[in-house]
Amino acid sequence: METVSSPVHSKILILDFGSQYTQVIARRIRELQVYSEVVRFDISAPEIKQLQPNGIILSGGPASVYDKGAPQIDKEIFWLGIPVLGICYGLMQMAHHLGGEVVFTGKREYGAGTLQISDGSQLFDGLGNQLDVWNSHGDEVTALPKGFLTAGRTESSNFAAVEDRERKLYGLQFHPEVAHTPRGKEILQNFVYHICRCAMDWTMSSFIEEACDRVRQQVSDEKVVLGLSGGVDSSVTAALLHKAIGDQLSCIFVNNGLLRAREEEIVQRVFGENFHVCLKYVDASERFLALLKGVTDPETKRKLIGNEFIKVFQEATEELLEEDRRNGERKLAAASPSVGGHGGYKFLAQGTLYPDVIESVSIEGNPAQVIKSHHNVGGLPEKMHFELVEPVRQLFKDEVRQVGLQLGLPKEIVYRQPFPGPGLAVRIVGEVTPERLSILREADTIVQSEMEASDWYYKVWQSFAVLLPVQSVGVMGDQRTYENTIALRIVESQDGMTADWVRIPYELLARISNRICNEVKGINRVVFDISSKPPSTIEWE
Ligand code: XMP
Repeated sequence: METVSSPVHSKILILDFGSQYTQVIARRIRELQVYSEVVRFDISAPEIKQLQPNGIILSGGPASVYDKGAPQIDKEIFWLGIPVLGICYGLMQMAHHLGGEVVFTGKREYGAGTLQISDGSQLFDGLGNQLDVWNSHGDEVTALPKGFLTAGRTESSNFAAVEDRERKLYGLQFHPEVAHTPRGKEILQNFVYHICRCAMDWTMSSFIEEACDRVRQQVSDEKVVLGLSGGVDSSVTAALLHKAIGDQLSCIFVNNGLLRAREEEIVQRVFGENFHVCLKYVDASERFLALLKGVTDPETKRKLIGNEFIKVFQEATEELLEEDRRNGERKLAAASPSVGGHGGYKFLAQGTLYPDVIESVSIEGNPAQVIKSHHNVGGLPEKMHFELVEPVRQLFKDEVRQVGLQLGLPKEIVYRQPFPGPGLAVRIVGEVTPERLSILREADTIVQSEMEASDWYYKVWQSFAVLLPVQSVGVMGDQRTYENTIALRIVESQDGMTADWVRIPYELLARISNRICNEVKGINRVVFDISSKPPSTIEWE
């Protein structure tokens, strides 16, 4: 188990029983400006006691309490004197282990319901006597444990909300964390503020101060290197580290020749000129393009690009070190070449986020168990024996964005869409050539500018062009053409694990298509990708 808590904050611990909504609960609590942390369901009562949370939430989960191997809570947790809110399977755990009766109904109940609230529950303070709620559960409580009473009922259950006021134990059969329970946030507020007595002390300004202190403590006067990609996570990491340790941070930005138009300009302007970050720009485009010549297999492309990146990064670090030596500024390299894994650079900074840190609970039937196929720049730490600095590993993406804004990063960086490490290479189906890259860049620029102009850019997860190795017949003026095809991919997603295509207005699609066909030489057809993930993926390769 890994916890990344700080003892100074109010804190809610979320025990993960494998629900697809566990992270949603954690985000909802943080939106209330209270720090929340996800831990595995099998954390012991003494471990919890040590972490000193103000309250505990038990997530839902796909299992039935009677399943063989179903996740079971350490029931001593209910006797710690810490308020507990059990949601769905969390409620079943509570009822099951405290002497109530839970039956397995044999089918899951999904959908909307109406909760009739009984008088006097603190959980529903200020919410009137009726609530729309959203259910998704298999087991059902049929008899309450001693000390519990009903706090709300639905059409199908007398025990849709229950509580033991004395011990501050609460259970909900429905999901307050999802949008389909419109006033769920107020229920969580009541639990967090009034029952657990948490303070609203999780703010991004306090995070920035604390994160800077932590970094200074960790790295002391050593040097840190960071692979800056221009994406949100590495950019915010760079800005935060720069604030914390100034010139002890060096960033390396590699142009692999597979970037979007003007990308290298933007990064150099923002970080070099505005922030005065120590930035090493490496133009390795020719190396990458030479390597990709004749390669059409997607996995081979990815591997070649990934391995070459490591080499380029290693070389760039050595060059940085050489420059430092020549400048005679830094004492470390010459004095103790054995320090750290790579001469003078003892630390490698990474923009790891909280969702990558949470250990996922593996329970059959858990839709959250989709395999994640891509990671940050792979292989660097293992190969170069760096120690890691990961200053934003406590944060969710929306929090990282807030930190970026507070540190003064421009909106074009903070709200940019994700862009894959192998870049445009995985958006060119077939061989990557300079000509095809140039066609794709032009089309991509049109997509991006039209999406921005219509305000759709910031509403979707990703919007981009893909160049297909398909030629088709067209007509331009009186001329027959036989040119390439661009596929337009516009998707919405929470985290890239699942996605759906966006129902974008026809007028916008028409404008993008017209402009691409008219302005991009070599394209005479644009198609719109209407596949969701799964079964498709977001990128085409
Ligand atoms: P797929 O295509 O697997 O993509 O549905 C899911 C999300 O991940 C991004 N992606 C990558 N990100 N390195 C990255 O940093 C990669 O190699 C990579 N491949 C895909 C993709 O853009 C989408 O947001």
